[in-house]
Amino acid sequence: MKTDGGIIIDMSSSSIYTMLMFVGSSAAVTLARRYAQLSRRSSTSSIVNSDIPSSLLESYTLCSEEVENLRTQYMSNSCSISYKNSGGLHFTYGYKSRLVDANGVEYLDTRNNVAHCGHGHPEITKAITYQMQQLQTNTRYLHQNVSLLAKKLSDLLPESLDVVFFVNSGSEANDLALRLARVYKQSKQNDNHKGKEHIITLDHAYHGHTLATLDVSPYKHRQGNEMVCPQHVSTVPCPDVYRGVHAINRELDSSGTRQQEIEAGKQYAKFVEEECKKITSQGISVSAFIMEGGMSVAGVILPPRSYLRRCIDAVQDAGGLYIADEVQTGFGRLGKCMWAFQYSNEDDDSEEIVPDIVTGK
Ligand SMILES: Cc1ncc(COP(=O)(O)O)c(C=O)c1O
Repeated sequence: MKTDGGIIIDMSSSSIYTMLMFVGSSAAVTLARRYAQLSRRSSTSSIVNSDIPSSLLESYTLCSEEVENLRTQYMSNSCSISYKNSGGLHFTYGYKSRLVDANGVEYLDTRNNVAHCGHGHPEITKAITYQMQQLQTNTRYLHQNVSLLAKKLSDLLPESLDVVFFVNSGSEANDLALRLARVYKQSKQNDNHKGKEHIITLDHAYHGHTLATLDVSPYKHRQGNEMVCPQHVSTVPCPDVYRGVHAINRELDSSGTRQQEIEAGKQYAKFVEEECKKITSQGISVSAFIMEGGMSVAGVILPPRSYLRRCIDAVQDAGGLYIADEVQTGFGRLGKCMWAFQYSNEDDDSEEIVPDIVTGK
């Protein structure tokens, strides 16, 4: 196993095209409206009744109320409905950056989880359909596309990140990253400490729904159910410069704000540095520090300048790996850079930030 850097990418088709699953769930009246809208908006969307696979036709007979009743009867309510307080949303299709509900109301899609290529992209639709018609198999066989994709992903990252794993969800990607960090640490340690691992995470973070990723997701620990922060995980304050313990005064001029931001970065990084000292003073080395380059579920929090560099230095000195969770923020979603961890490169002349493991979707 190469340990100098890895990339774990969620390859479930839902990541590219989540809304595909919803296209078939609306009442007949909506269908008519939908055709009218599609033909008005896009010359590529010439769907006619015969395009709908017969296995999906039944769903067009259901109205929103029936859809909800079926859901209530057969799906667990622990998978709650978003915006339920205003009746919930029943989307029937999406195109480009828009989502359209069963009443024909159109929404700009700013928060539909991690779909990042828009809806109904003709080339993506064509590629998925074509590949489904050719072959569906697993990554243990040779196939030109999986080899090519691994190379293309690696080319998007700093040079040392050149080993790719393909998995099925962001949770699995982070789970595997934590496992790799544990194996790496064990390979470096003497027998006395082999069983012990210690991970540092940020308050409010969410990294997934498997047991291992829930352990490092304080967002879930705060919800008052069975999930608690285990002993081998340390939670440190998230580097929020607007509301946190080191919030900065925005009324200063830009150079004053920048100075304050640098100071806030130092102060927030101290939490990680001190945690590393505490852990290593007990004879345990740190296995991993997991963080998004810009925190998403926690409330869109971009770390102050110099913060990430300091945290990485402290964690690596304590024997740990930096896992950059790019599940929400990767592939250019922050606008300025391909990966959110690169956002922190801008700030000073120090070395380029290179995580040990990157997870993405
Ligand atoms: C930052 C982050 N990491 C991991 C995950 C888990 O990804 P998935 O839902 O694909 O398991 C999410 C999901 O929202 C996320 O926001």
